[in-house]
Amino acid sequence: MTLMRKTFLTLAENNAMYRFVVGNSLTRNLTRRFVAGESLDEALDAMAALNTRGIRGSLDLLGENVHTEAEARAAGAEYERILDAIHAKGLNTNVSLKLTQMGMDLDENLCIEVTAKVLDKAQQYNNFVRLDMEGSPYTQRTVDLFKILHARYGNTVGIVLQAYLYRTEQDVEEMIKLGARVRLCKGAYLEPESVAFPDKADVDRNYIRLMERLLASGYFPGIATHDEAIIQHARRFCQETQIAPERFEFQMLYGIRRDLQESLVQEGYGMRCYVPFGTQWYPYFMRRLAERPANVWFILHNALKR
Ligand code: FDA
Repeated sequence: MTLMRKTFLTLAENNAMYRFVVGNSLTRNLTRRFVAGESLDEALDAMAALNTRGIRGSLDLLGENVHTEAEARAAGAEYERILDAIHAKGLNTNVSLKLTQMGMDLDENLCIEVTAKVLDKAQQYNNFVRLDMEGSPYTQRTVDLFKILHARYGNTVGIVLQAYLYRTEQDVEEMIKLGARVRLCKGAYLEPESVAFPDKADVDRNYIRLMERLLASGYFPGIATHDEAIIQHARRFCQETQIAPERFEFQMLYGIRRDLQESLVQEGYGMRCYVPFGTQWYPYFMRRLAERPANVWFILHNALKR
């Protein structure tokens, strides 16, 4: 892991930095490259624009680690409102949520109750809810709660697995057995060597191995990466093994590699864009800076231009 990545992922959890960045109107404006806005209406407008370009979506109300039951219930209610709005506007998008936002750290029964209400709403509209994957202290609990919810809601709910974790190979096999819908990503958190590959080359190799398993035997996997070499590999693998483009989709983050998102759509591949919005954008924004040092120069350059 590079020093830069480590620094930004550490700052993502730093309160003083949080106050500086969030309290500063300049940085708030610059986040707009990665965050669709602070309100649901702004996010819905961004989604409508993506849909007109043939790109599906997944709306994410930013927020993690709530501290009270009331906050967890409010976040769940907000997701129900989002699903109502998606239905009312006829948009082609599902939602992604974090279980710590639904109260996982407070009480697992509360978390299940709140998330189940969101899933009831999704089922009513024939929509879908993806459980994002957070840092490794939450992996086992997320998998356990996912299995409880999957037993009740089937493929109305899906999970995310991270290729940087050593354990993910087993998780992939378990999800294949369940016939569950998996989004495969590399992983965005600061993790110790005891649980995650420290070298990016190993993460990339593991991603390719797990991706091939999911493409060949998984249920409608989401190949979530902006890595062009891996995307090329996926296309080649699918051509060679005759896996039709309808059996999977590519997924990318809002504001990243828009050129590649559009060219894959032009070639007939399914593309889903993860669109985050809301006021709690700080940790998400810092993880995006950590992924690519060039983003920091982009932000500084724009800050200096103003
Ligand atoms: P990699 O980091 O190797 O980047 C490959 C190339 O992509 C770079 O060279 C650059 O061109 C471009 N790129 C990547 N990140 C960029 C950035 N921030 N800004 C500009 N360009 C960038 N993680 C997690 O832990 N839990 C989760 O639930 C999710 N969910 C999720 C959903 C979706 C739809 C995506 C695409 C990603 C996630 N992630 C995630 C994040 C994921 O784990 C990972 O951190 C990022 O996708 C970056 O990794 P890449 O696979 O793009 O490769």
